[in-house]
Amino acid sequence: MLEAKNITHSFDYLLFENINFKISPKEKIAIIGKSGSGKSTLLHILSTFLKPQNGEIFYNNKNLYSLKEKELIEIRKKEFGIVFQFHYLFNTFTARENIEAAAILSEREIDEELLKRLDIFEVLNQNIQTLSGGQQQRVSIARVLTKKPKIIFADEPTGNLDKVNANEVMQILSEYCEENDAALITVTHDAEISGFFDRVYELKNKRLDIWK
Ligand SMILES: Nc1ncnc2c1ncn2[C@@H]1O[C@H](COP(=O)(O)OP(=O)(O)O)[C@@H](O)[C@H]1O
Ligand SMILES: [Mg+2]
Repeated sequence: MLEAKNITHSFDYLLFENINFKISPKEKIAIIGKSGSGKSTLLHILSTFLKPQNGEIFYNNKNLYSLKEKELIEIRKKEFGIVFQFHYLFNTFTARENIEAAAILSEREIDEELLKRLDIFEVLNQNIQTLSGGQQQRVSIARVLTKKPKIIFADEPTGNLDKVNANEVMQILSEYCEENDAALITVTHDAEISGFFDRVYELKNKRLDIWK
């Protein structure tokens, strides 16, 4: 479904080189690594936001960075779902309005069941600013899943959550993948959540190796 071939990238210095991996529908993989090792950069490269200096990303056998801008944006809008560490919700809107925006952009219906499962149904009409950190993170996950993405890219999705909330969020993302034949790529420094994944890689010494 998604294949990275010989990815190399540097900013001021070489971040990583010759990174290769593949992910298939329903698979859940994690990439762990220390802060500064290049995890977020790698996730941006995989998810259409940053063209790597070397190497290619294939999505369903299409070379992502040789697509026309319009096709790339379509994929980003409808097929890729990105969960950021800091959620970028619209702060002056209610939770429901934030989710509605995603539904409109991706031309999908809001799944009310999902909102109940995420335990945000009761707070949908509240302003984002009045929600707790955990609730805000769950709204941002509802927003991403509303798009019905084929691949979810998550950057430290549990970074701001306590253990109970962290497990719940990982559980919901895992179930979504099972039920929708979707794939999940998570980057995190939190090795504690590694039990949720089929494969865990480590980004270390500029390389990506199997961790477990
Ligand atoms: N747009 C950028 N321009 C220059 N340097 C960057 C940019 N983005 C990240 N970096 C640098 O690349 C390194 C890796 O960053 P990042 O991918 O965010 O690592 P991680 O997510 O593993 O903490 C850091 O030293 C960071 O300062
Ligand atoms: Mg990061």
